[in-house]
Amino acid sequence: MRAALSGVQDPEIHKPITDLGMVKDVTIGENGTVHVEIFLTVSGCPLRDKITRDVTAAVSAVDGVRHVTVDLDVMSDQQRTDLRRKLRGDAEEPRIPFAEPGSLTRVYCVASGKGGVGKSSLTVNLAVAMAARGLSVGVVDADIYGHSVPRMLGAHGKPTRVEKMILPPEAHGVKVISIGMFTPGNTPVVWRGPMLHRALQQFLAEVFWGDLDVLLLDLPPGTGDIAISVAQLIPNAEILVVTTPQQAAAEVAERAGAISLQTRQRVAGVIENMSWLELPDGSRWSRSAPAAARTWPSRCRRRSAPRCHCSVRCRSTRACASRGTTARRW
Ligand SMILES: Nc1ncnc2c1ncn2[C@@H]1O[C@H](COP(=O)(O)OP(=O)(O)OP(=O)(O)O)[C@@H](O)[C@H]1O
Ligand SMILES: [Mg+2]
Repeated sequence: MRAALSGVQDPEIHKPITDLGMVKDVTIGENGTVHVEIFLTVSGCPLRDKITRDVTAAVSAVDGVRHVTVDLDVMSDQQRTDLRRKLRGDAEEPRIPFAEPGSLTRVYCVASGKGGVGKSSLTVNLAVAMAARGLSVGVVDADIYGHSVPRMLGAHGKPTRVEKMILPPEAHGVKVISIGMFTPGNTPVVWRGPMLHRALQQFLAEVFWGDLDVLLLDLPPGTGDIAISVAQLIPNAEILVVTTPQQAAAEVAERAGAISLQTRQRVAGVIENMSWLELPDGSRWSRSAPAAARTWPSRCRRRSAPRCHCSVRCRSTRACASRGTTARRW
């Protein structure tokens, strides 16, 4: 029975429930009846139904089992402390795992000089594309005043708090945290610089990200407080600069990229969003171009077309962002 239950993972922590001390008791009765008692981390655990379903399915698959019942209980404070220690170690003050020497997580800050060039759209689309390729990906919505990532990603869940540890919700296989998950409705965040720094520090240190391959930070526009805080908190973070074809945007983007000279961060790349695609014959194709100018769509429909490398202006990008489905087909 234990072996069967070890195949069930906590949906937020992504570790076997047997390792997390979540199995309270298992009683095997007559005629193939099994009763399992499970400890939830918190009473309002949003994924209690999923845990019940997974436990029932795992135990039902054992030979001779005919009927399974599951009872849910809640961990005591001491059990939660033990769980936090097991996951995060004994350190009283949470540390930022991505800043530790030997961290294997690549951290990318998606930055721009101007607002509205598509940082958030690119952050969520990159994250979903990487997760679809099997990478373990997290997104921090570091745009505290203008948070928009949860909507674009379709992440409607709320974070679960276990002591000082925050378990982030997941959407499209991407773990995500945003200040918007902690504010009621559409309430604006009215904070000064030091509070922004503190919020970012909490997102990085107190959220249980697990072993991430990639962490993406969606930065607010410009070279302000948050960009400086990120450089201080994760000095090894790399910068992805987003711009658009307009000269005005490119000049401001250059300044955003130039911040790396002061912070000694590496610019990993520059993305020209809402752009056109250079075709082999030298002509330019854009999704927003008049129909007659669209020479590419027939090739675009073929899966082998290099469309994932372009960020042409695309109506579906906008529509998907509003629906929270992301432009997955790209
Ligand atoms: N390639 C694209 N084609 C069409 N629309 C796009 C594209 N990229 C982004 N958009 C749209 O442009 C608008 C601004 O995008 P987004 O919010 O991602 O920009 P941002 O740089 O994060 O803005 P801010 O600086 O305000 O945070 C959104 O409505 C988005 O759907
Ligand atoms: Mg944004």
